[in-house]
Amino acid sequence: MGAPVLSLDSVSVSFGGVKAVRNVTFHLEPGELVGLIGPNGAGKTTIFNLITGSVKPTDGVISFKGTDIVGKTSDQLCHLGISRTFQNIRLFPQMSVFENVALGLHSEPHYSIFEAFVRTPNARRKEKEVEEQVHELLTLVGLEGYIQQKAGILPYGLQRRLELARAMATSPELLLLDEPAAGMNEDECAELIKMIRNIHELKKYSIILIEHHMNVVMDLCRNSRIMVLNLGETLAIGSPAEIQNNPKVIAAYLGEKRERNGRKRSIS
Ligand SMILES: Nc1ncnc2c1ncn2[C@@H]1O[C@H](COP(=O)(O)OP(=O)(O)OP(=O)(O)O)[C@@H](O)[C@H]1O
Ligand SMILES: [Mg+2]
Repeated sequence: MGAPVLSLDSVSVSFGGVKAVRNVTFHLEPGELVGLIGPNGAGKTTIFNLITGSVKPTDGVISFKGTDIVGKTSDQLCHLGISRTFQNIRLFPQMSVFENVALGLHSEPHYSIFEAFVRTPNARRKEKEVEEQVHELLTLVGLEGYIQQKAGILPYGLQRRLELARAMATSPELLLLDEPAAGMNEDECAELIKMIRNIHELKKYSIILIEHHMNVVMDLCRNSRIMVLNLGETLAIGSPAEIQNNPKVIAAYLGEKRERNGRKRSIS
């Protein structure tokens, strides 16, 4: 195995009295697609916030491709090659599907306002490049038929896919997906599994996938690993089969089920 693309070494963070992440150590290999699961409040999203710089660790080291990234801003981390989707969708609802993705493209227009105004060949070529890139990303998420629609009026499941296209627009090496299947029905989940697998194979991203839909995470990680967090701590790391049969994992989920008595959670 080569050097990890991402390393968390003994990472902790507290918010006031709450220890949201406790002493987590984890290494992601280049091109790996790893699942991150755990009951509500386990610290999963906080791990993404730590990796993307919106939360600073109280302790520990986080490295991306061998460089310590603690203290870097979210913008700097995005330029380094880390991108994410959000548990609560964050799009520009008044803008079109096209604009939401185009905004994420690194390629700033390398032409002047004058060139844009008179539409010189250079400006037209750059515009065409942007159109092609956006079209490619929207096709990957099955939204090529919605290019001019306003993002805010798309059905929820399609907004989630648009989030995914927007996250890919920055050409990341590491993609962090926070509950991409949230609110989706079984058919939509099945489509999403195919989509993420295809994107992973094509783009070779390293991916961490937070997901409560167990069929989605077990399927996408079937040749890989899943990490389980509980109360901020690593409970287990292993193959889907190892995780499903781990008594500590089963107890954590069953405990949550008893406590919450209603929110649907299962590990099979
Ligand atoms: N910015 C913050 N300030 C204070 N507490 C926070 C903050 N972010 C997270 N927490 C707390 O840290 C704990 C972990 O939250 P986190 O959002 O990471 O959980 P999660 O595993 O993503 O849960 P869910 O499955 O419900 O999304 C929770 O107790 C939460 O209330
Ligand atoms: Mg979360």
